[in-house]
Amino acid sequence: MGEPSALITGTGMSLPDNVVTNADLERIVDTSDEWITTRTGIHERRIERAGKPLSHYAIDASRKALDAAGIAAADLDLIILATVTPDMPIPATACTIQHELGNCTAAAFDLAAGCSGYIYAQSVAKQFLANGRCKHVLVIGAELLSKYLDWEDRSTCVIFADGAGATVMSAGAAPRGVLASAMHTDGSMADFISLPGGGTLNPPGQEMIDQRLHYIKMRGNETFKMAVRSLEEVCREVLDNAGLTPEDVDWLVPHQANQRIISAVGNRLKIPAERCYVNIDRIGNTSAASIPIALDEAVREGKIRDGQIVLMAAFGAGLTWAASVVRW
Ligand code: COA
Repeated sequence: MGEPSALITGTGMSLPDNVVTNADLERIVDTSDEWITTRTGIHERRIERAGKPLSHYAIDASRKALDAAGIAAADLDLIILATVTPDMPIPATACTIQHELGNCTAAAFDLAAGCSGYIYAQSVAKQFLANGRCKHVLVIGAELLSKYLDWEDRSTCVIFADGAGATVMSAGAAPRGVLASAMHTDGSMADFISLPGGGTLNPPGQEMIDQRLHYIKMRGNETFKMAVRSLEEVCREVLDNAGLTPEDVDWLVPHQANQRIISAVGNRLKIPAERCYVNIDRIGNTSAASIPIALDEAVREGKIRDGQIVLMAAFGAGLTWAASVVRW
């Protein structure tokens, strides 16, 4: 018998109720529905306004994923929360989730890899499932990016959004499961997307606020070019490692960063739009949450089905980029 395979056995998602349309943003910053739609593909997004922390949405998504997988929280061996917007710096929000799920003794930690966080977390979970240390791992991607948006910066506040997605990964038998995954980092481009304040470099305080360092900064144009190149490369890398080609892919589920990036990557890989799952028009860019949210929608809509080849790919702050290919 070979090593166990890492299967995705359940998915769930949770979004804030509050919908913010491009027309709403026109009233806040100097922008237009036409600019946002043509440059990003986003029509509306969810922005947290109910005063709930990240864990509230992560727990809601996790309960749905556990239900879909048909397991209890007590069955979990490990919880990994991919996020850059935790409830607080200490303790890790994954610990709050473990407690709130109830009757759960799983080890729990947060993982920060920007928008690539979910794929990074999935890769970590896969190792623990393949080496037999875990039977069930809860892998969550969740962000409340709106809490760090500068509502005077039109280049970021129109893009980022809030939400949570969760997946249960379980040890199972090949040929199903994660066939290949890859993670990459280039820290020389750390200033492309950053939130400079609130850590030990620029500690919380009046000076940090006066300098507006508690807001997300982005060099959009440079990020865009790097994203298209790195996503194509990492998709080819994992497909090669799995002995597959882009033609074999039933669904490309990319990080929902920008419709133009998704289309460019699809074109380069020759994966047609019908096989590419896109929800950025309704959901916006929810960073680490975007892929598990998209997976949950695609599964519940009956689009992703057992046995299909699903390619996931993301890039984000770091810069980081990552992909995985799964036989569902
Ligand atoms: N509304 C209207 N105009 C805007 C605007 C907005 N919301 N945001 C920026 N602009 C303006 C800029 O100020 C600039 O004006 P100028 O030429 O007078 O200086 C002009 O639009 C072009 O800006 P630029 O940044 O070159 O636009 P772009 O075509 O690169 O599109 C992004 C901007 C952010 C949509 C695009 O770069 C992008 O999506 N990058 C990737 C970002 C990303 O994916 N980040 C997430 C990583 S996980």
